[in-house]
Amino acid sequence: MKLNIAVLAGDGIGPEVIDQAVKVADAIATKFKHEINWKPALTGAAAIDAVGEPYPDETHEICVASDAVLFGAIGHPRFDNDPSAKVRPEQGLLKMRKKLGLFANVRPTFTFPSLLDKSPLKRERIEGTDLVFLRELTGGIYFGEKGRRDAGETAFDNCVYTRAEVTRLAKKGFELAMTRSKKLCCVDKANVLETSRLWRETVQAMEKDYPEVTVSYEFVDAVAMRLVQWPNSYDVLITENLFGDILTDEASVISGSMGLMPSASLGKSIGLFEPIHGSYPQATGLNIANPMATVLSAAMMFENFGLQQEGQAIRNAVNTALDKGIVTEDLADGGTAYGTKEVGDWLAANV
Ligand code: IPM
Ligand code: MN
Repeated sequence: MKLNIAVLAGDGIGPEVIDQAVKVADAIATKFKHEINWKPALTGAAAIDAVGEPYPDETHEICVASDAVLFGAIGHPRFDNDPSAKVRPEQGLLKMRKKLGLFANVRPTFTFPSLLDKSPLKRERIEGTDLVFLRELTGGIYFGEKGRRDAGETAFDNCVYTRAEVTRLAKKGFELAMTRSKKLCCVDKANVLETSRLWRETVQAMEKDYPEVTVSYEFVDAVAMRLVQWPNSYDVLITENLFGDILTDEASVISGSMGLMPSASLGKSIGLFEPIHGSYPQATGLNIANPMATVLSAAMMFENFGLQQEGQAIRNAVNTALDKGIVTEDLADGGTAYGTKEVGDWLAANV
């Protein structure tokens, strides 16, 4: 297969972890006889510095001309404590999601046998956890009208959903559930929010099209609780943008390290693949960041092209590295810690 992949390394540790994923993907391409043409483009604070804009038009053109986007991380501390900043790296991310039509954010949470005791949760609670969040990514409170009134003394952020937006996300959820254990949980706050009632009504109406799927409806506050009590009782969960943002951070600690979880954002055409962790500015350039989440995001990218064996080869290499202790300091437990680049080299040599 010939693949054109846009590479948006972004800020902080983004470039370092992206380098490792590119290296591993290139090793896969050699092994399985694919040709990958990487197209680097600017985003985040790096793009603000270079051209004054976190998601420049030129970057967008490169993305739409590609088959997929591999994304690192964005965000820089100099914007975080400055509520008056006119441009922020995060705006680039939201603009990119919207312009590329990436409405479904796929965030899996699974455990690694060798890390079961690294999780802050007890082994018996998390063993067997293998769930996937489908977070709606281009609607809701993130994109509703926002502003100030009363001379700035009152602020508002509107949460808006259309039936069409809920339907297309829920359809992906039902389809994903059909390929897994046929269990779907719709997470909402239908006891309070009108948008949540629309979500529930829409999903309920779709149940008849997927008679094999068992659907449960749970309130977001209860899910937040059950997620740390019995994460292995969930399979596919669908939810709106802000609930999904919060719950997927919560879910990410189950595996024992945020540095391990990949994600995919899908829409009508191209997909974007990125680690769920952020830009970790304190670790920039220190060669200590865990590249595995980005490497596993590359695995999701191959799988999304239907290249299952390629994805599996990457997953196997990561599992072996974890078993053998070829890990960065976040997982080294006081033992030998490898550098970001060294873990990447090892994975590339062992896929
Ligand atoms: C995420 C991030 C973003 C979000 C931020 C950086 C805008 O937290 O991808 O989960 O809230 O969606
Ligand atoms: Mn988030």
